[in-house]
Amino acid sequence: MKRNKLVVVGVGHVGSYVLADAMKLGLFSEIAVIDVEQDVAFGEALDQAHATALTYMSNTTVRSGDYSECADADVIICAAGPSMLKSEDDAMPDRAQLAAVNAEVIREVLAGITKYTKDAIIILITNPLDSMVYIAENEFGYPKGRVFGTGTMLDSARLRKIIADNYDIDPKSVTGYMMGEHGHTAFPVLSRLNVQGFGEKELDQVFQGKEPLSREGIKKQVVKAAFDVLNGKGWTNAGVAQAAVTLAKAVMLDERSVYPVCTTLHGQYGYDGDVALSMPCIVGKNGIEQQLEIELDAQEMEWLHQSAEYIKEAMQVANT
Ligand code: 2OP
Repeated sequence: MKRNKLVVVGVGHVGSYVLADAMKLGLFSEIAVIDVEQDVAFGEALDQAHATALTYMSNTTVRSGDYSECADADVIICAAGPSMLKSEDDAMPDRAQLAAVNAEVIREVLAGITKYTKDAIIILITNPLDSMVYIAENEFGYPKGRVFGTGTMLDSARLRKIIADNYDIDPKSVTGYMMGEHGHTAFPVLSRLNVQGFGEKELDQVFQGKEPLSREGIKKQVVKAAFDVLNGKGWTNAGVAQAAVTLAKAVMLDERSVYPVCTTLHGQYGYDGDVALSMPCIVGKNGIEQQLEIELDAQEMEWLHQSAEYIKEAMQVANT
C-alpha cells in the first residue's frame, strides 16, 4: 500500500518546527529529513523518532536521508537557506537581502529534487519567498502548480489576528488576506475583509474596536509583526511552519482550500510569466488547482503594482 510521505529540506529554526508540526499532524506515515549539515538532519530525525514513543501518533517513521528520498515523496517542504535574524538596532531588515545567497541554495535544492521527481508537490518557505518561487517554478521544468510558496498565508494569519484583537473577537471568525510580496510591500485586501458578513465599512460601527480601522495602519502593523517576533526571540518559525503544514494537509487530503499563496502570474493583473506573488488560490492534490483573480479597488491595485515592481528588483539580485 502507498504510504504518505513528506520530505523536509533544511532543518534550521523553521524546518525543525515544520518537522515537529508535521509529526503531530499524524497524516504522514513516512517523513525524511535532508540538510546540508547531515549530523543536524540525523539528530533532528532521531529526536523526533524518540518522541513517537510518547505520543499516540506513533505510526510515523522519521529518518534523515538524501535527495533520493524525494523519488516517492507526496509533498516536499523546503525551508533551506539562511533566514532573517534579529538586527543589532532592532530595525526591520529586508528579506530581499537574502536574494543572492538563497537563490544559490534554491537552485541547488531544486537540482537535487528534480533528479528524482517532478511529481511531488513542493512547498517553499525560503526567503525572499517570491523570488525563490519564481526560480523554482521557472528554471527546472517543474509542472505548473506543483511548486508554490507559503507566501502571504502567514501575513494573512497576522492580519486576521490583528483585526481580531482590535475587535476582541476570534481570529477564525475573520476572513481576509494579504496579497503581493511576502515582505515589506505586502498589502491588506480590506475591501474583501469579512467578519461573518460585516465588511470593512461596518466593522467600526458593529464592534467595539480599540482603534478605528485604517488601511495604512493595518498594512504597517502586519508588516511590522514579523519584526516584533524577530526582535523578541531572534527568529520566526511557528507561524510559517503552521502555514506550510496546513498547505501540506490541503494537498494530502485534496481539500481544495482557498489560501493566499505565492505562484507565478500568468495573465492575472496584467503580469504574464514575469513575476511571482501571492494571490488567493485553490490548493488541492495537484498543488495550486486554480489562481483566483479577485477584483481589487484602485488603492489595492496600486499596492499590487508597487509590490510586483519591488519583487522584480529582488529577482534581479537573485539572477546576478
Ligand atoms: C516571517 O515573516 C521572517 O518571513 C519570515 O516570519
